[in-house]
Parts: sequence; structure tokens; C-alpha cells
Amino acid sequence: MMSCDAAAEHSAQVRDHLISQINAAGGWLSFERFMDLALYAPGLGYYSGGAEKLGRDGDFTTAPEVSLLFGACVAVQCAEVLRSLGCGSILEIGAGSGRLAADVLARLERQAQLPERYSILEISADLRQRQRGYLEKRLPHLLDRVQWLDRPPEEPFEGLILANEVLDALPVARFRWHANAVEEMGVAIQEKEFAWAARPADAAMTKICDELFKASGGWEDRGWDDGYVSEYCARVAAWTQAVTQPLRRGAVLWFDYGLPRAQYYLSERHEGTLACHFRHRLSHDPFANIGLQDITAWVDFTRVAEASRAAGFELAGFTTQAHFLAGLHIDEEMRLAAGSDENQFARLANQARQLMLPGEMGERFKAMAWLRDLDMPLSGFTLLDLRHSL
Ligand SMILES: C[S@@+](CC[C@H](N)C(=O)[O-])C[C@H]1O[C@@H](n2cnc3c(N)ncnc32)[C@H](O)[C@@H]1O
Repeated sequence: MMSCDAAAEHSAQVRDHLISQINAAGGWLSFERFMDLALYAPGLGYYSGGAEKLGRDGDFTTAPEVSLLFGACVAVQCAEVLRSLGCGSILEIGAGSGRLAADVLARLERQAQLPERYSILEISADLRQRQRGYLEKRLPHLLDRVQWLDRPPEEPFEGLILANEVLDALPVARFRWHANAVEEMGVAIQEKEFAWAARPADAAMTKICDELFKASGGWEDRGWDDGYVSEYCARVAAWTQAVTQPLRRGAVLWFDYGLPRAQYYLSERHEGTLACHFRHRLSHDPFANIGLQDITAWVDFTRVAEASRAAGFELAGFTTQAHFLAGLHIDEEMRLAAGSDENQFARLANQARQLMLPGEMGERFKAMAWLRDLDMPLSGFTLLDLRHSL
């Protein structure tokens, strides 16, 4: 963990950088740009800075950080696809600490189904280094199969693309709704502090908000109150197109927390879905702990579905994390990982509960599968089919 002094100094640098960007833009930055800089400004943003981010010593925890069982089940799903293709490679996007990569590779090795190559597309140079260090320690004999990328691969490949909790970290646009006008929420400086500042939305944002309003049941008198605030991820279409483009044949698996559109933009969720994490404390204030906290927004899975379909994929499954893991026999993975060690079995059983219980990560988190030039059933998506909800 960074010392308090170093953290305060880092935060002050990020703040100064953001203030200079706001001033250079004439006193107002869209929230999307603000979030982009706060998270990813090279060397400064939350993901680019040097602090521990994931796990017990970081700010938040993810399914791979909770348990190796998540990666084991993902690996079993990958093995089905790799077997059906004859072989192939895996591209993981946004690999965090590197734990998911290590758990997937270790389980695939046990199954004699290693991918030809395991590529990691990671935006943060600091995390690329941490991932390499982690994999060097855990799986030194497999390191020559792993490569790190800072942009999507140029060579086409067959296999799979995986991303856990990356979609929620893509910068979002924020809007405020009125019956006869839409405003874009941005960030200005007031009395030396960041402050929300609204501007009339342009035609593109107004059109998107009208569609969201309609999808929420807005024209049927169940609509939003005046001043309803929420977010959407405008860049997900272009991003999905870019990162999935090299996959000639195979599957894409998205894991994240979020909802289909009709459940996302409900009138009661009138302050949006921004969630910020700092040392395992949740807040909804993106201006606090600047550069030191994660900023996320729930994923609108209907938007991800539109983006994935436009990128040329067929929807193969959409389910909860709990049903995904159960469909891949997480109970058998627990036995396999624990062997005859009863204490380890009890620890894994606790972790499985955290991954699967509805009040924990089981329902809020979803798994989504897309196929290109491949038609096959996927075991993780057989128990509960939520595709109709998209
Ligand atoms: C919330 S963390 C999740 C990490 C990991 N997948 C896990 O589940 O523990 C988000 C990760 O996505 C990376 N990331 C965010 N935007 C990205 C992008 N556009 N391209 C590649 N990686 C990105 C971050 O640097 C970080 O590694």
C-alpha cells in the first residue's frame, strides 16, 4: 500500500492535472472525459498509478480475487471451446493482478488443453508489470506462452476473448433528464473544488436518452421524474468492435455486474449507478480521493449485446454468475482443488458462497457469451437462460 504522504501527493498531482485539463477546455469537461483522465491518464490515473488496487490490500475485490474457483470454472468453459476448435488461443482484456490468467492457465494445463498463446491486453503499464511478476512466480514454466499487449492484436486468431469487470471500468457519459430537454453532466471548478455542471445535450445524446427513456417504460407513465440522472457507455460499440475484431472464429465471454436495459433505467434509480471504491469503502462521489479510487458504472447489458451483435457475433448465452458457475460444476472444482485437505475444502466452500449467493456476487454479476463462426452449446449457460431479458 502507498504511504499516506505518497497517496496524498499522488492525489494532488492528479487533481492538478484534471484542473489544468478543465481550464484548457474552457472551464468544463464532460464527465466521460473526466472519468477517463481520473482512471487512465498515463502515469497518473487510478489504473496507471503505482498503488495496489485489487484484493485485500487494495480498494476492491473481484471474482478472481475471491477464489481460484472462478478461474477454474472459466477454464472449463474455455476448454469446451478450445476442444471444439481443435485448439486456439486466449485473449484476456484487463487482467488486473493476473490472477484470472494464472487460474485459467493452471486449470487448462491440468486438463491438457493449454491454449497456443495467452495474450493479455492491458491498458495500464503498471498492471502489465504486476501481472508479469505474478505469473512469473506462479507459472514460470508457462510464461513463454503469455504475451502482453497495449492494443488489440493485429494477427487474426481462433479461440476465446475473456474480460472480467472491464466493461464497468469504461468511461461513461452522464445525463440529466427533463421532460422537454436533456442536459449533459460535466465537471467544472467551483471555489477550487470539482463540481457538477450541466450543459444542453447535443443531438446524439438527446436521441440516446429518448431511447433509454422509452426502454424504461417512459412513454407508459412509469417514466423518470424531472431531473432524473443516469449514465450510459457510448464507447462500448467502438471498443467492442476494436477488441473483438481479430477473433476470426470462437467465443467471447463478458463477465460484469449490471442489468438488461429495461431493468437498469428504472425511475427509482434516479441518481445513476456510479460506484467508487477506496480501500474497500463504497461511495458515489467521483470527486473524492481523486486518482486513488476506482470509478465504475453498472453495465447496460442490452448495450453490450447491441455492440457485440454489431461486431459480428451471435448471442450464445446470458445468465447470472451463480448459474454460470453451477453449470460448470463448481462443486467438482472444489473437490479437485482441495484434494484430501478438509480445511482447504471448507475455505473453498466459503469462497463459493461469496461467488454464488444472491446477496453477494451471485445475481448482480452476469456472464454473457458470444460466438463467431461457431455453433455449440456452452455448459455455463445451460441452467438459466436470460437472453430474452436483453
Ligand atoms: C476492475 S479491474 C478488473 C481486473 C481483473 N479482470 C479482475 O477481474 O480482477 C479493470 C481492469 O481492466 C483494465 N482496463 C480498463 N480499461 C481497459 C481497456 N480499455 N483496455 C484494456 N484494459 C483495460 C484495467 O487496467 C484493469 O486491469
